[in-house]
Amino acid sequence: MSVKVLAVLASGSGSNLEAIAQAIVNGELKAKIAVVIYNEPDAFARQRAEKYGIPAILVNHRDYKSRKALDLAIINILEKYNVDLVIMAGWMRIVTQVLIDAFPERILNIHPSLLPSFKGIHAIEQAFNYGVKVTGCTVHLLSLEVDSGKILKQAAVPVLPEDTLEDLQKRIQVQEHIIYPEAIAEYSH
Ligand code: GRF
Repeated sequence: MSVKVLAVLASGSGSNLEAIAQAIVNGELKAKIAVVIYNEPDAFARQRAEKYGIPAILVNHRDYKSRKALDLAIINILEKYNVDLVIMAGWMRIVTQVLIDAFPERILNIHPSLLPSFKGIHAIEQAFNYGVKVTGCTVHLLSLEVDSGKILKQAAVPVLPEDTLEDLQKRIQVQEHIIYPEAIAEYSH
């Protein structure tokens, strides 16, 4: 298998970025993160990228007139770095067909629920408030319709009676950090 060149797109903390970078360091994932793209100037993901010596490029959506213009700027970077797979890890922008067409079936996303339940934002809160006893996380291919692409991998997470929302969030993130690197490795074969 050739080493896949990844780009990670992150808007916030970047803990999934770090889990993927660490899996590469550990030799569990044969890949290279060529670039991190982030859209929030103070995203902690930038510092995590620096820690692993990965170039981090700010593409601030506020500087672009449309979603399409933002995606074109992103494609420009992805092509410059010869990216094979685009890894969305907490990327909080809705993408356009332009980006999907540029990387068909090569954009992965992680969502903190067992899709197709609880799509969209605040998925953990939605599940928590609904009272489900099992939730989880899903790695899937990106499609134009939010959180609806082909499912690649899932992990189930129990909701315990005494859980707070924060407890549940933490338990789901532990699983995200396990299944995202695994899903990338499996999909790269
Ligand atoms: C994760 O919970 C992921 O499921 C969702 O956004 C969050 C990103 O967390 N899409 P982080 O920035 O990787 O810490």
